[in-house]
Amino acid sequence: MGSDSNKKEVKSLPRLGVLGSGKGSNFAAILKAISERQLNAEVALVASDHADAGILKKAVAAGLPSYVIREPKYKTRLSEGVEKELVRQLRAANVDVLILAGYMRVIKTPTLEAFPGKIINIHPSLLPKFRGLEAWRQALEAGESEAGCTVHLVDEGIDTGRILGQARVPVLANDTPESLHARIQTQEHRLYVETLKQFLQNL
Ligand code: GRF
Repeated sequence: MGSDSNKKEVKSLPRLGVLGSGKGSNFAAILKAISERQLNAEVALVASDHADAGILKKAVAAGLPSYVIREPKYKTRLSEGVEKELVRQLRAANVDVLILAGYMRVIKTPTLEAFPGKIINIHPSLLPKFRGLEAWRQALEAGESEAGCTVHLVDEGIDTGRILGQARVPVLANDTPESLHARIQTQEHRLYVETLKQFLQNL
């Protein structure tokens, strides 16, 4: 065989930016899948709006670049200047796809325009049912017999973007909000990795 046929095309791995506000169990599942080579990607930057969030601690422990978003004014969104600086950081890290993993603020125009069709979220309900906060509690209080989680693209609405994947769990008679959320989270960890894998393959 000639030497040319031995040359493999080296395709660079998609670079993930991750935003989270909480403990980061979905991020941990994604990291595990990357380390076990189930997911072909690399984490370029992990950012959080809480300096002491578990997700940031996990990023630092894994030796990954991290960034603290400092928002002095709003609780549920970022000021435009703060969001533009976040986008600058994500771009500087060469992020291709932005993953929301328990990020508790609404994504606005600067980020949506920087990553069109490339922002993904996981939400703890079977969308379009139960958008917004504590969706597992909403499902329980509505007397649903089934709950679950959804991975979807992010658009300007709250939990309204195109659905990429869903997983279902039963609601049990003795469930508390906590027990139901825990059951949903087990599925989240599997679903997020699986859906992301498909999404990245089709980039
Ligand atoms: C998950 O329930 C996810 O669906 C929601 O926020 C929670 C994040 O959990 N968007 P974790 O920080 O990944 O453990």
